[in-house]
Amino acid sequence: MLDIRGLYQLNYILMRKPFIAANWKMNKTVGETQSFLNEFISLVQDVKDVDIVIAPPFTSLYTVSSIIKNTNIQLSAQDVFYEDKGAYTGEVSPVMLTDIGCKHVIIGHSERRQYFKETDEIINRKIKAARKHNLGVIFCIGESLEEREAGKTFDVLKREIEEGLKDISAANIVDSIVVAYEPIWAIGTGKTATTEQAQEAHKYIRERLASLYGSKANEIRILYGGSVTSDNIDSLMACADVDGALVGGASLKADSFSRILKFRR
Ligand code: 13P
Repeated sequence: MLDIRGLYQLNYILMRKPFIAANWKMNKTVGETQSFLNEFISLVQDVKDVDIVIAPPFTSLYTVSSIIKNTNIQLSAQDVFYEDKGAYTGEVSPVMLTDIGCKHVIIGHSERRQYFKETDEIINRKIKAARKHNLGVIFCIGESLEEREAGKTFDVLKREIEEGLKDISAANIVDSIVVAYEPIWAIGTGKTATTEQAQEAHKYIRERLASLYGSKANEIRILYGGSVTSDNIDSLMACADVDGALVGGASLKADSFSRILKFRR
């Protein structure tokens, strides 16, 4: 029997539609993308109760956009610049992304923070620019191993949330921004956070969101990312505050990503 707390928890789980996104990072040519979709679309055509998102590299966005028309798959970019147009060699604007059919964009991934020196301020500008053009945002946060071992996980998450979402209104966040908790030490390492570690961090993130947005925080989806596979997705999705996943390596193969989308809670 569920007690009253359990009922509230169930209610929140039910009102947050699972959101599972493939972050292909710098993988797949256009030809490889087409082969993936040929297999993938039929594997997931019956998945109705999950937001299914694919984030290919920029070079494959147009191909994916054309092929997924009239399917249950949504398109995301992996990054965006914060200006609409101009002399910014190599950059891509939110206007260009919406024009090509993107519904979402990943912002603040730890690889961009680490290798491309993206700061919380830059990330905040990118989020505002994406929202100005009605792009959904997959906003990534997460601590490094050193930060976790030094007991700074919550401090890092607090700073990344508060700086990244600075001046973003509640109206602009529910249904438009999902937060992806990706502990850096779990990315590409095969070392997934335990369900206790994931739930603890997600609960903390929801509390921080509640301090900014009040009860709206219960409607914001929080994804887990970091060595998600078809073997661990079921237990991760069983955590009360895990509302989806951001999947790297295991999203590159149609069969493993489709199994992840068919998780069982
Ligand atoms: P892996 O699933 O390969 O660990 O990557 C996670 C990630 O960074 C998704 O954005």
